[in-house]
Amino acid sequence: MKEKLQKIREEAMSQIKSSDELSKLNDVRVAFLGKKGKLTAVLKSMKDVLPEDRPAVGQLVNETRSAIEEMLEETKKQLEEAELEFKLKQEVIDVTLPAKRNRIGHRHPNTIALEEVERIFVGMGYEVVEGPEVEYDYYNFEALNIPANHPAKDEQDTFYINDKILLRTQTSPVQVRTMETRPLPIRMIAPGRVFRSDEVDATHSPSFHQIEGMVIDKNITFSDLKGTLAEFARELFGKDTKVKFRPHHFPFTEPSAEVDVTCFKCGGKGCRFCKGSGWIEILGCGMIHPKVLKMSGIDPEIYSGFAFGVGLERIALLKYEIDDMRLLYENDDRFLAQF
Ligand code: DAH
Repeated sequence: MKEKLQKIREEAMSQIKSSDELSKLNDVRVAFLGKKGKLTAVLKSMKDVLPEDRPAVGQLVNETRSAIEEMLEETKKQLEEAELEFKLKQEVIDVTLPAKRNRIGHRHPNTIALEEVERIFVGMGYEVVEGPEVEYDYYNFEALNIPANHPAKDEQDTFYINDKILLRTQTSPVQVRTMETRPLPIRMIAPGRVFRSDEVDATHSPSFHQIEGMVIDKNITFSDLKGTLAEFARELFGKDTKVKFRPHHFPFTEPSAEVDVTCFKCGGKGCRFCKGSGWIEILGCGMIHPKVLKMSGIDPEIYSGFAFGVGLERIALLKYEIDDMRLLYENDDRFLAQF
């Protein structure tokens, strides 16, 4: 028995020594100490040993087992260390290499201008609302007092989805939607994309943005409109900016006006930027036509209001002195990174 155990021990040791991988080492463990392992088999045959010899043999078996286990454990550690070493050598990281820069984008000039306009009006207590870009002809034209054969419809030629549905030509339909759904009084601005069948050039695009504004309450007068827009112009272009109201016509306002601001480049003296006039046109506005109020269920005998519409691109171009609208849509990084 003694020799048998000695043989098992030597055999195990030699196999352990020649294991150069963890998986092979595990095979050796199973072959000797596993359920059907050689040493386990010896243990099972203890019943054939004479009772008086059992303690001594038992001790010998245990010693053999411990010796093999110890050797297995030690070799396992060595193999694991070697494996880690190998991995570390394989995966060298060169900490001196320059880092990859994450390029972070930033806001588009249109967005910056819009946020500025929103900041100004929200500061005066206005709500920011939105309306759909695909709109009913009714909201885009009819409810704004532009009947089917009105010439203004030609000026704002657009893309029709069908007879009744189109891509909105202006943000003014949001006025109507707001009047229909919001409780009075109303103070809102409505920014958004609009569409016209225009050719692309330095000042035109088939798709651009407007910001609509509307106030309805009792006793709203033209002086409220003037004061509001004068304040808006001062906030946007500087405190010395002056405004000029020129009579104009819009079907949904009466009276209507176009508003010019003093050129912020020359302060009104006249320069290349304002084409020598000292003034720059920025928006259209007026007192909401009584017919428009009535069509949306508001009594013009009790309520009155004003409205205005600003071109967002126009503001961005003016503020950043950009001379070609197309630059805003080309998404050239070198251009956009300047703002
Ligand atoms: N919707 C007009 C346009 O696109 C701009 C406009 C003018 C809006 C006067 C208004 C307004 O609200 O009162 O040309």
